[in-house]
Amino acid sequence: MEFFDVLHMRQSVRHYTEEKVEEKDIAAIVEAAQLAPVGMHNNKGYILTVISSKSVLDQMKRSFTEVTGKEGDPSYGAPLFILVSKTPEAIVEIAKYDAACMIENMHLASAALGLGSVYIHGMIFSIRGEKAWQHAAGLPDRAVPLCGLAVGHSAQELHARPTKETFQTIYVE
Ligand SMILES: Cc1cc2nc3c(=O)[nH]c(=O)nc-3n(C[C@H](O)[C@H](O)[C@H](O)COP(=O)(O)O)c2cc1C
Repeated sequence: MEFFDVLHMRQSVRHYTEEKVEEKDIAAIVEAAQLAPVGMHNNKGYILTVISSKSVLDQMKRSFTEVTGKEGDPSYGAPLFILVSKTPEAIVEIAKYDAACMIENMHLASAALGLGSVYIHGMIFSIRGEKAWQHAAGLPDRAVPLCGLAVGHSAQELHARPTKETFQTIYVE
């Protein structure tokens, strides 16, 4: 898919089928994250956790319900969740920016592969520090989850979206 077609296909998908994401597609999405820019070359500051285990995904949902009292699935039934966590080596000022670059690369890669995905910050923010799911996901205690990408096959047909002026843009010539 051409780069600008990928940009038009990228969209937040919140309804998924139960079909699993193929291993080759998971590998391509992770490769996209590995190609993301990282401030100060600080690659050691981050851990990616690729979660396709249903029991771990269920544990995340349970932790979310316990902490917030909210029922429902904050990752919308996606069969894959790729978590970005920071380590103590991360540079506090830029950790969130680095994580966002990784997520966006994966979001675009998913779109290019014809998969749906959605950036998830809310759930991770709610359950940060909840050790039960972090241990279930094999995340070391020194790691702090920042955000993630839910990925799967969209339950609805996806269409390219037209360009819209989302942000005020000022040209200084
Ligand atoms: C930093 C960030 C955090 C987000 N967190 C969530 C989230 O926790 N849950 C969710 O459903 N969508 C989340 N989104 C998706 C946005 O709601 C979505 O990108 C926005 O509404 C624009 O829609 P679009 O992605 O379809 O263009 C997040 C997006 C960004 C960039």
